[in-house]
Amino acid sequence: MRKKVILITGANGEMGRGLIADLYRNGTSSIIAMDLQTLDASISNKVMEPIIGNVLDKSLMEQINGEYEISAIYHLAALLSTRAEFSPQSAHDVNVGGTLNLLTLAVEQGRSQGKAIPFFFPSSIAVYGLPDLETKKTAGAITEAQFCTPETMYGCNKIYAELLGAYFEKNYQRLAAQNLSGFVDFRSIRFPGIISAMTIPTGGTSDFAPEMLHSAAKGENYNCFVRDDTQIPFMTMPDAIDAISHLMRANKENLTQSVYNIRAFAPTATELREKTLSFFPDAIIGTEISEKRQAIVDSWPADCDDSSAKTDWNWNPKHDFEKAFNTYLIPNITAIYNV
Ligand code: SER
Repeated sequence: MRKKVILITGANGEMGRGLIADLYRNGTSSIIAMDLQTLDASISNKVMEPIIGNVLDKSLMEQINGEYEISAIYHLAALLSTRAEFSPQSAHDVNVGGTLNLLTLAVEQGRSQGKAIPFFFPSSIAVYGLPDLETKKTAGAITEAQFCTPETMYGCNKIYAELLGAYFEKNYQRLAAQNLSGFVDFRSIRFPGIISAMTIPTGGTSDFAPEMLHSAAKGENYNCFVRDDTQIPFMTMPDAIDAISHLMRANKENLTQSVYNIRAFAPTATELREKTLSFFPDAIIGTEISEKRQAIVDSWPADCDDSSAKTDWNWNPKHDFEKAFNTYLIPNITAIYNV
């Protein structure tokens, strides 16, 4: 008999660590956690088995398929937006090819279990591409259907992977004699920038917010790489993890879309700096604009409309801007850096 498990890829990433801790806290111990590197000590005791390997390794996928009965897949492995611009081919390979492999694994599992396998895919505000700052200013909070014209490799990868997920769920091999659709239950969230008190992201373009805060807490000088008036939506990591678990538990009948926007607050870089300085008044936070990364952030929306998530699966963030700092970020960050 195959072992019953939940599969998480990208386990060592910021989101993977948070999700594994959350699932474990809620009584799920049968997690197989996949990553390129040995699992971080903070999660290694919370999983049933680590799998050190690459999502592009098809024979590893076959091995996993043979060994486990997978009840849900959380496919988090990805190259983030800044890194993807430096290595577009690798980004495509991992962000698209990896997702294709995991969706194929889900179909195999669904066929052998005779049911649809819940599949979570983290998408991003990077799927949006606002043509210029004037449009960004006037567009306001944008819906899932607006401005889906990404300018980055990462954004292109994410929007295509969203489409792939829907295709695997609804139309997979639609001309085959045997109907192969319906074996994947694809659910996706377009995350805004995420701020964690516990970890700092690597290779993202929304990283100016967590970098600014963590540097201030550590007593290090920081130069923000975007203009003061730059605005995109953000949320805390615990809210992001809660959202995943809410969406994955939602009744399928209530889901009117496969991909949902969510957001919690949308500060400007100035507001982030002022808030950070209110807790760390001695911090030195300057500005050294990276025109190229600025252009990427300028193409992302100032805010997004999360009303469908609110209606369909009761999305509601715990942390607004004030609470994020007062009750989550500052208490945890000061404990971590011992300040
Ligand atoms: N936060 C991500 C990044 O900056 C976007 O999803 O790449």
